[in-house]
Amino acid sequence: MGNIIAIGIQWGDEGKGKIIDLLAPDMDVVARFQGGPNAGHTLMIGDNRTVLHHIPSGILHDRTLCVIGNGTVLDPEKLLAEIDGLVAGGIPVEQRLKISDRCQLIMPWHRQLDAAREGSKKGTLIGTTGCGIGPAYEDKAARRGIRLADLSGTHLDALVRGNMEYYNHLLVEYYHSSPVDPEAVRRVITQAQERLLALTCDVTLLLHAQRQKGASILFEGAQGSMLDLDHGTYPFVTSSNTTAGAALSGLGMGPGAVDQVLGIAKAYATRVGEGPFPTELYDGNGRQDPAGKQMADVGKEFGATTGRLRRTGWFDAAVIRHAVRINGITGLAITKLDVLDGMERVKIGTGYEVDDGGRKAVIDWIPSTAEAYARCQPVYHTMEGWSESTYGATDLQQLPEGAMRFLRKIEEVCGVPVVMLSTGPDRSHVIRLVPGFFA
Ligand code: IMP
Repeated sequence: MGNIIAIGIQWGDEGKGKIIDLLAPDMDVVARFQGGPNAGHTLMIGDNRTVLHHIPSGILHDRTLCVIGNGTVLDPEKLLAEIDGLVAGGIPVEQRLKISDRCQLIMPWHRQLDAAREGSKKGTLIGTTGCGIGPAYEDKAARRGIRLADLSGTHLDALVRGNMEYYNHLLVEYYHSSPVDPEAVRRVITQAQERLLALTCDVTLLLHAQRQKGASILFEGAQGSMLDLDHGTYPFVTSSNTTAGAALSGLGMGPGAVDQVLGIAKAYATRVGEGPFPTELYDGNGRQDPAGKQMADVGKEFGATTGRLRRTGWFDAAVIRHAVRINGITGLAITKLDVLDGMERVKIGTGYEVDDGGRKAVIDWIPSTAEAYARCQPVYHTMEGWSESTYGATDLQQLPEGAMRFLRKIEEVCGVPVVMLSTGPDRSHVIRLVPGFFA
């Protein structure tokens, strides 16, 4: 197997966990490169549901080395709880997992600031996951962040004191919120020192040694391209780069290390939190389109991390083409096709109608501001749906003609082949379409 970057190319929640778990047995290494506990990657094996937040989705496979790279932000208490949960289920995580000592830590003050901001009228409401992701990445850029490597350094006390002073001022004076609890901080640091340091290493050295041995690496993205800090619907984005370039910087590798870039997308679209979503049909509140409700109900569209209802809408090919350009996507994995079963009509967004100085014009790219994007009206290609079930299909021959037409249209309007199809939640519900793509 070559090296594959596998990333979400909508607004997250595309079903990356399942696809990565499926590819993992053929890979030597699965590596996370950005994000943190805001991610929720769900794996279904029979009736067993595993939700991973920090740990790479290859962890259930005994010969796969799992790696967390320098581009991620880690919440020590949550990571340890995740490790303990897996160990209790018989997975020897400590034997399979290595963590970069350059990872930034999410401290209690980051979660407090995230909550204070979201609960305040100051600034823009983003609808974050509340995990402290934004503040942790801000501190990384501001060069006051605490990394795993700092936990054994002599400068740790001064670093913690400086951060507490800064955050107490911000929390109390600006947000009129509670100060940081020094006991909670001490607990996090002690736990991380006692248990996480033993799992750290220089991940760049490790991965380069693996490459020299001919190992294949699967780079596992979190969130999706439309939540990318630079290329997403700013400011309604996460605070990391979720796109293919980050796979390299987030692990310390060069561009030559990549053979394929797999873009993972649902057969429809979802979004959690605030921000524009042109093909939106349903939000459980003001928008109540029945097709969107079917997507939410049948697709069980609730956040794996926050439990929030996800907004749903039609597949938007303009979003996918944007992702193809910014990531160099070479193949698509389409998930949750079965959720559209039984719909009389299905639609694919192909572009947007905009008001160009009093004249209507159609664009097929993403405007740079959220305001302009929110004004875009989707243009649709409408097709007959299919009444037959595609649930659990494992062979192309089992798909009805309506579903085949839908997939062919996706390939045509997105300009890349569909190489993998997921037809249900279980590991076995999959069709690999392009022989050799993963070779
Ligand atoms: P944050 O990453 O918690 O700062 O949240 C910023 C935005 O990204 C919010 O709209 C979140 O709902 C969204 N977001 C973050 N992580 C995920 C994810 O894993 N799936 C879907 N949306 C996410």
